[in-house]
Amino acid sequence: MDRIKKEFEEKLEKVKDFEALKQLKASYLGKKGRVTSLFKNLKNLSPDEKKEFGKKINEVKDYFEKLLDKKSKELFERAKQESIESEAIDITLPARNVNLGGLHPITKTIMEIEDIFRSMGFGVEVGPEIELDLFNFELLNIPKEHPARDMQDTFYINDNVVLRTHTSPTQIRVMKRQKPPVMFISPGRVYRRDSDITHSPMFHQVEGLLVDKDIRFSDLKGVLSEFLRLFFGDVPVRFRPSYFPFTEPSAEVDIGCIICGGKGCRVCSNTGYLEVLGCGMVHPNVLKNGGYNPDKYTGFAFGLGVERFAMLKYGIDNIKLFFENDLRFLEQFSFAKGRSL
Ligand code: DAH
Repeated sequence: MDRIKKEFEEKLEKVKDFEALKQLKASYLGKKGRVTSLFKNLKNLSPDEKKEFGKKINEVKDYFEKLLDKKSKELFERAKQESIESEAIDITLPARNVNLGGLHPITKTIMEIEDIFRSMGFGVEVGPEIELDLFNFELLNIPKEHPARDMQDTFYINDNVVLRTHTSPTQIRVMKRQKPPVMFISPGRVYRRDSDITHSPMFHQVEGLLVDKDIRFSDLKGVLSEFLRLFFGDVPVRFRPSYFPFTEPSAEVDIGCIICGGKGCRVCSNTGYLEVLGCGMVHPNVLKNGGYNPDKYTGFAFGLGVERFAMLKYGIDNIKLFFENDLRFLEQFSFAKGRSL
């Protein structure tokens, strides 16, 4: 019995995996195992011997089972430890940067302007960039001999077709297809033969039109003052008399210079104010040309330059930066810059 025990202990010591453990168990405790065969010898013994010897074999069996169980647990723990070590990842490595795209500052500015007007109940309309002279000029009360039609300013495609010089023709297009009341803004590209640090041959405008019964200048003033406050923050707003062929009366709107705070600087030419948009009460001829009865309806219109709004809001001093697509410039408007996942 002691010999078997010693032998078993030595063999168990050498077991390195579950397969070897299984075989060792079978060779001692299995059907034809060493311990099992001892039970078979019992039949040759006297009842007393049987009792004593049987007890001993059972003790050895229990002892072996305990040892096998312990070994099995050890093997399992070791295997677990090995897999933890071999599958380990080094979490001290720095993460890779994922640069997501961003919106172009002009797109962002247009979206912001749209959000403000939508919140006031305005819809959004679009018009064509290649436009009839009729819509771009004639029906907006700009007669043939008007200086705005000068070849210096307008890209003509032929005598009757131009690249639109402003978004105002959308006013006529919408009025012609929709009965009053109308209330919309219309953003888009416009074209003029003009190029310096504040002018580009292609730029963006947002047009606005509101026509209904009993619309007054005070409505225009309220809507535009609120819009400018929401876009630029709390800045002084001033309305100045001006002239546009398609509005009467007309005004230009200035805000207190956001560069110098109104003290006077190079950007505001020492006036303390910056001109930001044109507006006025829709001229009766324009209402008529859109198919509306000017004795029943009145309205106001306005137009603004998106690049100018973006330049003032973000402190950009050259309009060309918007169109060169230099990533070092554009990335400054990408809110996801350099963020790692
Ligand atoms: N269309 C004008 C321009 O391009 C801007 C403008 C001024 C639009 C007054 C309007 C307005 O609707 O009422 O300079």
